[in-house]
Amino acid sequence: MSLTGKKALVTGASRGIGRAVALKLALEGADLIVTATSLERAQKTAEEVSRLGRRAIPFKVDVGVTSEVEALFQLVTSEFGSLDILVNNAGITRDGLLMRMKDEEWDAVIDVNLKGTFACTREAIKLMAKAKSGRVVNISSVVGEIGNAGQANYCASKAGMIGFTKAVAREYAKRNITVNAVAPGFIETDMTGVLSDSVRDELLKQIPVNRFGSPEDIANAVYFLVSDLGSYVTGHVLAVNGGMHM
Ligand SMILES: NC(=O)c1ccc[n+]([C@@H]2O[C@H](COP(=O)([O-])OP(=O)(O)OC[C@H]3O[C@@H](n4cnc5c(N)ncnc54)[C@H](OP(=O)(O)O)[C@@H]3O)[C@@H](O)[C@H]2O)c1
Repeated sequence: MSLTGKKALVTGASRGIGRAVALKLALEGADLIVTATSLERAQKTAEEVSRLGRRAIPFKVDVGVTSEVEALFQLVTSEFGSLDILVNNAGITRDGLLMRMKDEEWDAVIDVNLKGTFACTREAIKLMAKAKSGRVVNISSVVGEIGNAGQANYCASKAGMIGFTKAVAREYAKRNITVNAVAPGFIETDMTGVLSDSVRDELLKQIPVNRFGSPEDIANAVYFLVSDLGSYVTGHVLAVNGGMHM
């Protein structure tokens, strides 16, 4: 197990991609803090991690609220004392056409997806810089690269995560910290479960491999970046999208 002894934090780990990432890191030997907006949901993933023989601490946090992120990192410090891996996965959508998009819909998406990534990374980097070692992976999206009608707020947040990733990668490369983004295409989770059959059929026509991805497809990419295999990769956006954008 190549991540034995590593301490990892995965945000939004109750379901979908975050849950799959948490289980993959645990399978490879990492101990974890797993978060969600509900303690019960975070606990469910923590129990699954424990069944794999790893330590797992559940925590309730809204990553869009800086004081809650600070409380999360107090836990990281008291329980782990250091942090090897941060996966900024928590994310939401509030879709709508631009003309009708409300300020609250814009703010909610930017706060969770982009400001949450900033706040968690800022705290994590303090620990990683001290240790002169660390791995950060930000879960962006293919639509942050190519855009998507009806998702101006979400696309802006995901494109922002890519710029953020590259800036922080340059800032901390000398401290042996890598910072990368994974840009998933359309993945089978609750987030895409709301799409109608006709929208799914249209999307499939744009995906050369002719299927939606699985959360495990993304977890494998994250694992590559946080393991020794990815040690010379930083500031990169790893597309995991079935060829939807190349
Ligand atoms: N699914 C896709 O096709 C796809 C494609 C590209 C990128 N992504 C990105 O991948 C990430 C995971 O997506 P998913 O499809 O797995 O989503 P999901 O099934 O909807 O799960 C979202 C996760 O984020 C957590 N979360 C939501 N709001 C939060 C907040 N304010 N603070 C902290 N955690 C919060 C949720 O916790 P609760 O259970 O407590 O709500 C849940 O664990 C997101 O960043 C998403 O944008 C997904």
